[in-house]
Amino acid sequence: MRFPEDVPVLTDDVVTLRAATPADVDPAYRLCQDPEMQQWTTIPLPYLREHAVNFLTQLVPNGWRENTAWGWVIEYDGQYVGTIDLHDGEGGVGEVGFAVSPEVRGKGVMTRALKLVVRYAFDELGWKRVIWRAFVGNLGSRKVAWKVGFHDLVTIPGGGRARGVRKDEWVATIGRDDPLEPKGNWWTVPVLEGDGIRLRPLRESDAQRVMEACNDERTQLWLTGMPSPYGLEDALGFITTRSEAAASGEAVAWAIADAQTDELLGNVSVFGLGGRMDKTRGEIGYWMHPAARGRQVMTTAVQLLLSHAFRPIEDGGLGRRRMIVRCADANTASAHVAEINGFTKVGNERQADPRRDGSYDNMLTYDLLADEYTAPQTTTPPVTTPPATD
Ligand SMILES: CC(C)(COP(=O)(O)OP(=O)(O)OC[C@H]1O[C@@H](n2cnc3c(N)ncnc32)[C@H](O)[C@@H]1OP(=O)(O)O)[C@@H](O)C(=O)NCCC(=O)NCCS
Repeated sequence: MRFPEDVPVLTDDVVTLRAATPADVDPAYRLCQDPEMQQWTTIPLPYLREHAVNFLTQLVPNGWRENTAWGWVIEYDGQYVGTIDLHDGEGGVGEVGFAVSPEVRGKGVMTRALKLVVRYAFDELGWKRVIWRAFVGNLGSRKVAWKVGFHDLVTIPGGGRARGVRKDEWVATIGRDDPLEPKGNWWTVPVLEGDGIRLRPLRESDAQRVMEACNDERTQLWLTGMPSPYGLEDALGFITTRSEAAASGEAVAWAIADAQTDELLGNVSVFGLGGRMDKTRGEIGYWMHPAARGRQVMTTAVQLLLSHAFRPIEDGGLGRRRMIVRCADANTASAHVAEINGFTKVGNERQADPRRDGSYDNMLTYDLLADEYTAPQTTTPPVTTPPATD
């Protein structure tokens, strides 16, 4: 193809993709100074103006001329705001890469640009599949890919590399016949408040309290899957992987915080939301910081959680039909939380819950169905949706 004459202009009337020009060098250079751009992409560091010159006046034009890569400048509001490209398309399977300026992030620009480019890959280049890759933790990019319909995400340990360093990588793909629509749920973590407590997303600054709570003797006794001892690294790992669990549609986890001080008092989660056979159930898990026990905080937290869990998905809830709680039969405090919240004891599995000493407890199952659940009159928690990370 000739450059720029043969570069097609792609537009959805909000975002326009067009051939790069030398006038794009300065805004491209500025974009590449952005810390997120440097963290999540493989651009050279320090990023010099000559890198932008080379990228826009050599690499991108040559890709079109040699039919090996197809790169566009993204225009929004008549301005350069970033780039997007297709590359490595041998055998009808190729990859996409993209970046947009910090000033216009969160406005749907990249979702629009990616849809245009994926359509181009299938309709004009005849590709069968487009691959998206990102370093683990790049939730902004992951959300764009999810919104466009990339699916079946996998994590490849050490699969990516930036500036000579191996990094864990997420990979997802979309096929020619797939709808350009999200597949599966990406749960938000709304703030739910009532009776002096606030359920809110976990943050890195909660790590110390998480560590204290999870190192506690009783937490360690009943939650045998937890590392022992439980260090600050474990706490940080738990916190960061909660955003990923929400993104994959598997689980929603809240910090239970004091409504006045915002200090973490405990954790409550719903997991098993993406079940292979039954996507309408959810299991509740919880633990409290030892200093906050005995004040019915968990009872209230579960009550707040249930109102969200049973609310239809179209109204911002989790759309659950059946909720369950499981605990060792000797764990009376945990069983009490389920019972006081209206759950029915429906099972007692013999010797099903392993202890660290090699013995087993019987495990109780409690359930609560949506059609028998009545939201408490006293608590109508306000629901807001903050960003997924702090
Ligand atoms: C990733 C990037 C391209 C997204 O561009 P964008 O124009 O902001 O994307 P969109 O507005 O279409 O969608 C972004 C979505 O991710 C969400 N998001 C952004 N950061 C997030 C985070 N840390 N956690 C969860 N969601 C996040 C936004 O809220 C938005 O979702 P919403 O529409 O439901 O509110 C942009 O952030 C970027 O250029 N980053 C640096 C370069 C980069 O990472 N490139 C991709 C390499 S794989």
